[in-house]
Amino acid sequence: MTGYIASHMVALLHEQGHKVSGVDNFSNSTIESLERLETLCETDLVFEEVDVCNEERLKFALTIATKVNGPIDAVMHFAGLKAVGESSKIPLHYYQTNIAGTLNLLGCMRDFGIKQFVFSSSATVYGVPETTPLHEGCRTQSTNPYGRSKLVIEELLEDIAAADPEMRITRLRYFNPVGAHPSGLIGELPNGIPNNLMPYVFKVATGELPQVNVFGNDYETKDGTGVRDYIHVCDLVSGHLSAVKHLAKNKGLFTFNLGTGKGYSVLEMIQRTEAITGIKIPYAISERRPGDVGEVYADASLAKHVLNWEAEYNLDDMIYHQWQWARKADQ
Ligand code: WQD
Repeated sequence: MTGYIASHMVALLHEQGHKVSGVDNFSNSTIESLERLETLCETDLVFEEVDVCNEERLKFALTIATKVNGPIDAVMHFAGLKAVGESSKIPLHYYQTNIAGTLNLLGCMRDFGIKQFVFSSSATVYGVPETTPLHEGCRTQSTNPYGRSKLVIEELLEDIAAADPEMRITRLRYFNPVGAHPSGLIGELPNGIPNNLMPYVFKVATGELPQVNVFGNDYETKDGTGVRDYIHVCDLVSGHLSAVKHLAKNKGLFTFNLGTGKGYSVLEMIQRTEAITGIKIPYAISERRPGDVGEVYADASLAKHVLNWEAEYNLDDMIYHQWQWARKADQ
């Protein structure tokens, strides 16, 4: 509830008048994250500090939420570890947290009679892209323990939906979330040295890190550097809202890419950040990162067609909002 994506989801659900409750184990956020979210929502939130791997605590949280807000319509599951490189070092921890945690949650939903489930999947399930842009029918493939955990959960959800025609499940495949809430009150809290590009770029912009290491410039892309489909976190959560509204009217299993359909290179991201912040972002070309591919971006037409959803923020919005947040978080 207090992590990067979930906190933006809570803010949107609250803004739209929905009753929201949530849990978090603060593995990728802090109690201050909850406090900032409550400031943004201008209310105390129904929250319990819970690890999704703790079934008893999860049941307790669902009981409290039901008592306070009434029967729960849907569960949106954001709790998971997401660092590709780290997952290769501690795969068992990733499988326990991501897969066992999800099974715990699904078991509690069964016990509480909750049938609607929105799962945070990832474009990583496509592995080495069969084609670009990637559409939902593209081949899936595991290329690291993190991606494998997401793919295994997607496949478990297929079996669960097939066994219970009353289930309403959506798997949302995120491309590259960036940006922050326009208020500047909530954003990503990258602990330590960021794995992802844009949190790293902003650590350089604020002077916390000396330069960006560009992982390879010999890919077959527009300028040789990696191309990705960056999507504003506020667009990402509006896609979740569209998905849960669709689930309220449709039983079954659904899968959607959440991306913009546009790809930007590492050098383009650095150049746009310099233009918007007015700060020189030093960088050096280094070796490719193991497991990286050259170009990954979405065919987002299915979400447009079925959910009537498409990304609305542009690249400059993403960078400007993330800069607003980075400057505050650095203070
Ligand atoms: C983007 C581009 C790098 C850092 C990962 C996960 C994916 C999703 C998003 C969870 C690539 C280059 C990066 C740096 C660089 N997470 N880069 N220097 O790898 O596309 O996706 O995060 O769902 O599942 O796989 O994102 O931000 O790490 O990299 O040159 O210091 O930036 O090579 O081309 P990625 P990223």
